[in-house]
Amino acid sequence: MTPSCETVLLFGATGDLSRRMLLPSLFHLDADGLLPKHLVIYGTSRSHLTDQEFQALARTALEPFQAARPDAALEPFLARLRFVPVDASDPSGFAALAEAVGPCAQSGGLAIFLSTAPSLFEPTIAGLHGAGLAGENARIGLEKPLGHDLGSSRAINDAVASAFPEERTFRIDHYLGKETVQNLLALRFGNSLFEPRWNAGGVDHVQITVAETVGLEGRVGFYDGVGALRDMVQNHMLQLLALVAMEPPSRFDATAVRDEKVKVLRSLRRIDRSTAATHSVIGQYSAGAAAGAPVPGYAEELGKPSDTETFVALKAHVDNWRWKGVPFYMRTGKRLPVRHSEILIQFKGVPHSIFAERGAVLHPNRLIIRLQPEEGIRLMVMAKEPGLDRDGVRLREVPLDLSLVNAFSGARRRIAYERLLLDLIEGDPTLFVRRDEVEAQWEWIDAIRDGWSTNMMTPRTYQAGTWGPSAAIALTERDGVSWND
Ligand code: BG6
Repeated sequence: MTPSCETVLLFGATGDLSRRMLLPSLFHLDADGLLPKHLVIYGTSRSHLTDQEFQALARTALEPFQAARPDAALEPFLARLRFVPVDASDPSGFAALAEAVGPCAQSGGLAIFLSTAPSLFEPTIAGLHGAGLAGENARIGLEKPLGHDLGSSRAINDAVASAFPEERTFRIDHYLGKETVQNLLALRFGNSLFEPRWNAGGVDHVQITVAETVGLEGRVGFYDGVGALRDMVQNHMLQLLALVAMEPPSRFDATAVRDEKVKVLRSLRRIDRSTAATHSVIGQYSAGAAAGAPVPGYAEELGKPSDTETFVALKAHVDNWRWKGVPFYMRTGKRLPVRHSEILIQFKGVPHSIFAERGAVLHPNRLIIRLQPEEGIRLMVMAKEPGLDRDGVRLREVPLDLSLVNAFSGARRRIAYERLLLDLIEGDPTLFVRRDEVEAQWEWIDAIRDGWSTNMMTPRTYQAGTWGPSAAIALTERDGVSWND
């Protein structure tokens, strides 16, 4: 690992992500004593704020977080904040930034975080380079979306690579900062119990669900034309799939882990023109209900009709020895009935039931790794119902529960960005996405989109507050599988 950075440059510092996630994460890290003592955070954006105005903006954003942890004072954190206005298209802002940061701070290391519109990435990188802010001590964190297809993603990656080599480029997928996602690795590779059955011999199928109750939430401009496949599957869900399916890395380090993930991503069987209609379902919500209240449909929120999908379900396969013939079902959508994100591993049933003649029905074991809303891991096993069994043996599925909230009750639940920002500052890329991974993800996604357009597939309607179009249910039921709602 490289030495910690002493200076953070936050591009897009006045934006929504910064106020909701980045500043709060940095505040928590500071309150826990995890930031380097002399670390200074420079916010930048096009707004012409003074240091004091930026600190006031941060104070407003942070007060609710501070109220939840009275042990932490806000003032020392606010004292770390400075502001330099930068317009990405104007080099003078970068010169002012370089002057403010100063050569000493540069030698102490720069952690740069871009949370701006992707269209600003290229000029921002050129500006940083031109102002001498892309030297050997600088590393850069990039927030998604990194392009809208393989070609545009390559263009962004090339622009980044012209100033920052891969080992200093940190592509963020905030799902990798989630505690339960990392716990998946602990579960798989910190226990000997699961791995022998974690293959086509032991697993019947895998389900990955990321269900959201929210609709557009004021993100109309961004979301329309992007859709669920590119917004959620291309990044978060494929990363989850890769972590579930990868071979054991030889060690927990950036190269070993990412080498194994990329092999999975490259082994994904294409869903293309010939299979898009049978292996994918797309939907768009119409008016319905959320949390018991009526909500408008997507097109009404948008103010015009649209072909953008707000729901997608896929049946994927990883074509390698380990996963031969095992379907990976994925679905994600907005305005679904509950907020619920989980990975379900359905194991195969016992080869022969000794209880069959006594009337007992056996269910195959299921391992459920719950990411949201509460984190937990649950193994469903068969147990005997208490009783004297005069009219047959009764077995029932019961959970072996690992509630992470209870097991680690003293630990504060962290924002995913806390982990990622600290790793960026300290220079550990293990939980960041490498260029070859992003490009493998886009290749797979582009084939699906091509399949949709060739087959003229448009989203089917589903009512807000339901589990997507009925075709999504048929996608698994055809294989005798039910989604775990
Ligand atoms: C973002 C997507 O990457 O992830 C959003 O752009 C989505 O559309 C969000 O709502 C979901 O993140 P989380 O952490 O709330 O599951």
